Amino acid sequence: MNTRVLTGITTSGTPHLGNYAGAIRPSIQASNLPGVDAFYFMADYHALIKCGDPQRIARSRLEIAATWIAAGLDPEKVTFYRQSDIPEIPELCWMLTCVTAKGLMNRAHAYKASVDQNLAKQVEPDDGVNMGLFSYPILMAADILMFNANKVPVGRDQIQHIEMTRDIAQRFNHLYGQGSEFFVMPEVQIDDDVATLPGLDGRKMSKSYDNTIPLFEGGAKALRPAIMRIVTDSLEPGQPKDAEGSHLFSLYRAFATPAESLDFRQQLESGLGWGDAKNLLAARIEQELAPMRERYADLMDRPDRIEDILQAGAAKARSLSQPFMARLRDAVGLRAAPAVVAGKRAGAADKKQAGKHARFVSFRDEAGKFRFRLLGADGLELLLSEPFDNPKAIGALTQAMQNAPLSSLATEDNGIVQVNIDGTLVASFPAAKLESVALAIDGLSQG
Ligand code: TRP
Repeated sequence: MNTRVLTGITTSGTPHLGNYAGAIRPSIQASNLPGVDAFYFMADYHALIKCGDPQRIARSRLEIAATWIAAGLDPEKVTFYRQSDIPEIPELCWMLTCVTAKGLMNRAHAYKASVDQNLAKQVEPDDGVNMGLFSYPILMAADILMFNANKVPVGRDQIQHIEMTRDIAQRFNHLYGQGSEFFVMPEVQIDDDVATLPGLDGRKMSKSYDNTIPLFEGGAKALRPAIMRIVTDSLEPGQPKDAEGSHLFSLYRAFATPAESLDFRQQLESGLGWGDAKNLLAARIEQELAPMRERYADLMDRPDRIEDILQAGAAKARSLSQPFMARLRDAVGLRAAPAVVAGKRAGAADKKQAGKHARFVSFRDEAGKFRFRLLGADGLELLLSEPFDNPKAIGALTQAMQNAPLSSLATEDNGIVQVNIDGTLVASFPAAKLESVALAIDGLSQG
């Protein structure tokens, strides 16, 4: 089985050079590794949480799609889609919302940060917090679990969201799984080798610091002036520079081969002027970006082609999400009417038949202890007992289970039912099985 790698890109802005080196370029490289099935998508529902500007959302979705394709993403190989083209995602999001503890969301860093800011400003704790922000991690869990991703490459700020996804997945599996697992546990993937580009002022390149270098925006003629604004120390040409300590060199290294970087570094150390260094940097970045920028311009001129690619991506994604959602709907009880009636008839027949066909069977387990199983009319296991030392205990316990109503022996906690007889734990099973277990025992004691 290939490893499924999945990540989302929030569509609230125009990609800059830092997004390219830190996310786009490494993700495209990863998608070409053998044994990897990559799922990359535009998280446009997430974008609605913080951005109420429809023009900006629309523009950003288009620019980000064009950027990834221009940068070399192969839509034949990668499943590349917009979140909002997959209606099963918000549907799953609701199912997950209904099994997620509100307390879990109270602990989300992004939400807590908003509350802290409000408290510092002495306003209402939830001032300006919408429900989208509050339950943001559940939508992210739906993105990941919909496609049962194994690895999720994200920045460190997203680690908690992946942990929450695992929590939520476990809870759903536990409540509805009945032994079969719907969701696999995703793992976070933090890539420490990937360049975090410094911005113009040396802090991490980020839109929120207003220190970015554009990627394609403004064309080649916008790149050079941005690079000229990189902050350096005031050493004159001819004076040796501290290459390692300069963010100009970090930027260069993110685009050059090791040999080129070594050469650049030696030039700086032997007195290359900052102006000349900036020219070299601009030329080196331009060399990588120029062919992509051309493809990008082409794509932006033909948005219908982008749309075709994204529609094909959505169809590919939905060939997985639609059948999976059908299973999930059935699991939670959202079933077509005939299926419900058929199920009920079978249930009624079961009740009469159960006495004949449901049964307790005792056996000796691998450790030499005595146990019993309750098998349903269909022969499938409904519960497995705890191990006991004395074989005589089995007869007494199964008898006791038939003599008293199950409700008087069973307690439910956190989706698990425990059967206790005279203070001894006899068996436990998922709460979802409670009705079948009760029906089977009921039939037995009548028969
Ligand atoms: N929240 C992520 C971010 O801001 C974007 C995102 C949305 C995402 N859904 C996802 C990332 C699913 C990984 C998997 O970076």
